[in-house]
Amino acid sequence: MSRKLSLIKKGIQKPHRIPSFVLTSILKAKQKYEFQQNKNLFVDDFRVDSASGLKNPLFRHSDFKSNEINRYAEEIHQSELLSQAHQTRAKHRSLKASPPSRCFGLYSLVRHYSPDVLVETGVFDGLSTVYLLEALRQNDSVGHLYSIDDPAPNLPPNKDPGWIIPSELRNNWDLILGKSQDELEPLLNRIDSPDLFYHDSWHTYPVMNYEFQTAAENMCDGIISGHDVNRNHAFLELCSRVNSSVNVDEPFRIGRMGVFGYAFIGGLTEDIPQRYPGWQY
Ligand SMILES: C[S@@+](CC[C@H](N)C(=O)[O-])C[C@H]1O[C@@H](n2cnc3c(N)ncnc32)[C@H](O)[C@@H]1O
Repeated sequence: MSRKLSLIKKGIQKPHRIPSFVLTSILKAKQKYEFQQNKNLFVDDFRVDSASGLKNPLFRHSDFKSNEINRYAEEIHQSELLSQAHQTRAKHRSLKASPPSRCFGLYSLVRHYSPDVLVETGVFDGLSTVYLLEALRQNDSVGHLYSIDDPAPNLPPNKDPGWIIPSELRNNWDLILGKSQDELEPLLNRIDSPDLFYHDSWHTYPVMNYEFQTAAENMCDGIISGHDVNRNHAFLELCSRVNSSVNVDEPFRIGRMGVFGYAFIGGLTEDIPQRYPGWQY
């Protein structure tokens, strides 16, 4: 019997003696398995089937076609670069902890509307960033993403924000380090008007309201989106200010977290209902 196997056997008899390299291998295999499960789960959550229709309300008020949504789900499922980013991230994070709905939402919005100038606040490991960049790559466009991040203390040691982003996706990306309150306006003053803005930095009312307001003032038309938009009233106020429907991936209660949402600025859509039917205000 190999040395490794005999060590495992001993470890099973006396679990406190399981060597750390065995535990690490087991953990990695478990994470890989969970990743496959999760990935299929979240992609399937968005697929459309002709019998039951759209499973996720995120696109209820938009002009997405069902076959288009399924195509994006398939692209995400097949993407080597997204898979690579998830696997890299799994070295430091539990895969179950990543709520992926926002990633599907952002990916689909970029694929459908082909924005050229994208601005994001809050990068952390780079999960949303990698989906935005992969969607730009799939668009074959000259689109560019500017991300602002005030680096979190719990990034892995010696890693920068966006550390999971594969090198193949970094050409169309600028990272600006600092607080959005200090960096957003100077950035918007030096680039073209954004077509898509995504908030995922600090989810307090003053910061969210400042970012949404500043983005809206600097956008002719396009999309303003955010994660945890149910944290406070900033997103709902934005929707009413720009007269957009409230597009969210699930009904939400103010004060909780986890909801991804987006609003249209300007003339992108017409005749959209003013209220999301399932929401609880
Ligand atoms: C929720 S994480 C971003 C998650 C990422 N978008 C994703 O999809 O996985 C929030 C990030 O915003 C950063 N942050 C916190 N306050 C900020 C601020 N005022 N301006 C810019 N970034 C901030 C945090 O350090 C962290 O890196």
